[in-house]
Amino acid sequence: MLIGKPTDIKGSEITPRDVYLRRREFLLGAAAVGLLPAYAGIAAAAPLQAVKSPFSTDEKLTTREDVTSYNNYYEFGTDKAAPAANAHTLTTKPWSVKVDGMAGKPADYALDDILKGVTLEERIYRMRCVEGWSMVIPWVGFPLADLLKRIEPQGSAKYVAFETLKRPAEMPGQRGILQPLPWPYVEGLRLDEAMHPLTILAVGLYGETLPNQNGAPLRLVVPWKYGFKSIKSIVRITLTDKQPPTSWSLQNSSEYGFLSNVNPEVDHPRWSQAMERRIGEGGLFAKKRPTLMFNGYGDQVASLYSGQDLKADF
Ligand code: MTE
Repeated sequence: MLIGKPTDIKGSEITPRDVYLRRREFLLGAAAVGLLPAYAGIAAAAPLQAVKSPFSTDEKLTTREDVTSYNNYYEFGTDKAAPAANAHTLTTKPWSVKVDGMAGKPADYALDDILKGVTLEERIYRMRCVEGWSMVIPWVGFPLADLLKRIEPQGSAKYVAFETLKRPAEMPGQRGILQPLPWPYVEGLRLDEAMHPLTILAVGLYGETLPNQNGAPLRLVVPWKYGFKSIKSIVRITLTDKQPPTSWSLQNSSEYGFLSNVNPEVDHPRWSQAMERRIGEGGLFAKKRPTLMFNGYGDQVASLYSGQDLKADF
């Protein structure tokens, strides 16, 4: 695998900090004079230094505007515009992640401690939502494997379970009688998937800290799986020997399986997964593009599933 060690990285590959700082000054200045909506997620965006990654695609980026305004984050409402409108209510500082289960070093880890000594990378990934749309997003993050190695999975651990914050006082989508999903939102990966170098924990996008609607302050990104596996605002990581429950399969197990690999040959029971609409490409009437097996990451990840029937294990 081509993974740049910090010592291999040329100075020219590091995004200049002053560029981000100037952008931050502009954002903060614009917020002060009322040019921007008062979303805390935007106003609080802080620049991040990141090195480029050989795992990035060179496809055209989805605009920052689309990436941050067309979201799924059901804790803030089911409408695509609801997260950007509502997620400013979420307090993301201080933030800690509880690590428990079959880990040699279980603890409540402050986010700042998780990030100490981590090299942040810009990872430009294609993302494919199960609903049939896709984006190309410049994430800023680090391999989940780096954190897992630090928390020392025990030999018997086979899966990693993740949990999002449950805080109805700050998450309007968790209030009310009719709920679209059971809370907290939960997800899981097999340990080999979690350790794969493509799997990252993201803390930013477009060179700045994550806006709340995109899962601040810490979210998972697994580019060869449907978007719902990429759980947002993580507060707990559990190592376990049993396949963990996942929100969408708890809600409808015939429609959503555990693996949820992007697979154009396995239709969703209610629609085909063969094609996708790239957000920003000419609206609803734009020509769709074919969806690729494992979202185009097959060379790197297909071997994880050798011998498995991916029509049965969807
Ligand atoms: N994580 C939580 N906690 N709650 C959610 O509703 N939605 C998922 C995933 N992670 C979701 C979540 C779905 S369906 C998708 S497609 C992606 O987040 C969307 O991520 P984005 O809005 O940052 O593009």
